Amino acid sequence: MKTVLVTGGVGYIGSHTSVALIESGYDIVIVDDLSNTRLDLLEGIKKITGKDPKFYEGDLKDEKLVAKIFNENQIDAIIHFAASKAVGESVTEPLKYYKNNFLSLVNLLEQAVSASIPLVFSSSCTVYGTPDLLPVTEQTPVKPAQSPYGNTKQVGEEIIVDTIAANPNFKAISLRYFNPIGAHESSHIGELPLGVPNNLVPYLLQVAAGERECLSVFGDDYNTPDGTCIRDYIHVVDLAEAHVVAVKRMLDGLSKEPYEVFNLGTGQGNSVLELIKVFEEVNGLKLNYKIVDRRAGDVEQIYADTTFANEELGWKSRFELPDMLRSAWNWQKNLSKLG
Ligand code: WQD
Repeated sequence: MKTVLVTGGVGYIGSHTSVALIESGYDIVIVDDLSNTRLDLLEGIKKITGKDPKFYEGDLKDEKLVAKIFNENQIDAIIHFAASKAVGESVTEPLKYYKNNFLSLVNLLEQAVSASIPLVFSSSCTVYGTPDLLPVTEQTPVKPAQSPYGNTKQVGEEIIVDTIAANPNFKAISLRYFNPIGAHESSHIGELPLGVPNNLVPYLLQVAAGERECLSVFGDDYNTPDGTCIRDYIHVVDLAEAHVVAVKRMLDGLSKEPYEVFNLGTGQGNSVLELIKVFEEVNGLKLNYKIVDRRAGDVEQIYADTTFANEELGWKSRFELPDMLRSAWNWQKNLSKLG
């Protein structure tokens, strides 16, 4: 049985990927500093899978901890989620982002290279900035990052490319996520926003749950059909399954290049107002929202061309927006019980 190290494995996408890996027959080892999550999600992984994965609580900036993990476990592949990821916070605390996201990645890569362990890197469509053409393919030019967070994704990919150039036996895949939302059908794991949510769906859910007064829609004067921004929302379970496919691709020696990049989206763009309407319809409730000014840095519209992931990776998203928003609301209702 192959063992996959999942960094940030108690996080939102990390916990869903941990479940998908276990259900696909992998052993997993999780390392997470719990800075942006709670142990409830580790309990959720156990409830869903019946497995109790080996867990290290710690910080990947600690070189000794990283070495200890690789010395104590036979790691066959790595999926690297652990990183700071709040766009706004990265603008006010850039050095925290550069130190955390780059040092963690470099410590991991040193271990991965020395033992030729393939690595999946959690990247983001944010590397495309405001694309000139839509939909976005993997060949769409990467644009100068609009935040230190986005820069850590861009430079993270460059660090991996340079590492592979110097170590031909090392392989990696970068997965560029569009907008992950939703939760596992069990409602035992989901997005756990700590503090005021930056992202649309977690904030919307807290308004629907009566925990917040009103959702602010950041601008309805964009050049889109209803004036609000368009995004490619993808079910987190679809995203998790793509990570399992990417790990298997490298372990089975099917990579066509030592470094490959795949967009993970649905290919479908939806506006903020469309998402709100679907949420209301599928869950039978009315949401309190108001239109306010634009949010600085927002991209008007972006959605994926999924051809390469569909044909080359052999992965395609299965869930539609109603499924995503139904599962999100079920998770929120469970979260309200968790307290
Ligand atoms: C989506 C849309 C907002 C909140 C960012 C990062 C990306 C990834 C996901 C980390 C936009 C609108 C939002 C609100 C709103 N980050 N919105 N009211 O900005 O597309 O992507 O988060 O993994 O890398 O760039 O996601 O959910 O913040 O915004 O109207 O209270 O919802 O303007 O149009 P975004 P988002």
